[in-house]
Amino acid sequence: MGAKILGTGSYLPPKEVTNDDLAASLDTSDEWIFSHTGIHSRHIAGPEDCTSTMAVKAAQKALDAAKVPAEKIGAVIVATSTPDYDTFPSTACIVQNALGCVNAAAYDLQAACTGFIYALEQARCYLALHPTRPVLVIGSETLSRILDWKDRGSCILFGDGAGAVVIAATPGGNEGWTTHLRADGSGAEFILREGGTRLDPESDEAKSLSRALMLKGRQVFNFAVKTFADIIENLCAESGIKSSDLDMIVAHQANGRIIEATARRIDLPLDKFFMNIESTGNTSAASVPVALDQAVRAGRLKEGMRIVMAGFGSGLTYGGTMMTWPGN
Ligand code: COA
Repeated sequence: MGAKILGTGSYLPPKEVTNDDLAASLDTSDEWIFSHTGIHSRHIAGPEDCTSTMAVKAAQKALDAAKVPAEKIGAVIVATSTPDYDTFPSTACIVQNALGCVNAAAYDLQAACTGFIYALEQARCYLALHPTRPVLVIGSETLSRILDWKDRGSCILFGDGAGAVVIAATPGGNEGWTTHLRADGSGAEFILREGGTRLDPESDEAKSLSRALMLKGRQVFNFAVKTFADIIENLCAESGIKSSDLDMIVAHQANGRIIEATARRIDLPLDKFFMNIESTGNTSAASVPVALDQAVRAGRLKEGMRIVMAGFGSGLTYGGTMMTWPGN
């Protein structure tokens, strides 16, 4: 039993914030941000949106594209690090109810920017046991609400949005679908957000901590360049193909320079990497499914193409999945 993606969808909130907008209140510039990251603007959620509402909008488009009614869905998995509620209920339950997925299990998955790749693999595992019940896999993030907007080293990088796919079991299998997932908790401090149960909330340390995202950018950059190349090389080795046999790489959009460095490292032309970071910034778990949906809707993905989706981020987590793009 194999699996295939039946439909994709994405949603970006309408408000766009440019680098010049940020430079109006921050010691930075469009020139610095673009030359160091490849980002010109990002979408920021308005008061009408949060992680679940964006997830619902992206997922409804994926359901429509897949022509799968909501009540057929067996599981709703929402990959997010910015859930509606800090602990529970899960964002997935809010989404399940809003979409009318009345026969579905629902849960959140937290693997930061690799979350969508992890969730896709969990969906494939679910389908192996429940082949008649398609899975809705969503990545959705409202990072703008956990940023320190005075920290120019981090706030310029991120944006909000959501992407989704419907994945179903296929009797014929999907030739060449291989996944490589890893974690390295020794780098846990490189990107983190305080505010959980690690500390007694009455302690002085807990009371003095910021609850904004904290980033050691240079360490993450170096980790990302190394692991991104490793992911692609491992997937190719496991599948017995050369990286030059790949038709497209839909990667986590963290920094255009990370993608360029990876392309050089594995000697692949940059035009094989789908890029939208210029207008989205880093949308964490939403990044890969938003890019995938944009590639699909732009007609860039054709039946039979061999593609890799890859991510890396806090945890540290990293991983990728290689598949042959299915036909309609
Ligand atoms: N505008 C202007 N100057 C800035 C700036 C900004 N927005 N952000 C940092 N700087 C300054 C720093 O203060 C530093 O100044 P100094 O040399 O006087 O101390 C200088 O630029 C270099 O800082 P550095 O952090 O070494 O820059 P960098 O080349 O590593 O780029 C990132 C910073 C964050 C863009 C880069 O490291 C990165 O993208 N890392 C990956 C982060 C990421 O994507 N994480 C999410 C999870 S995947």
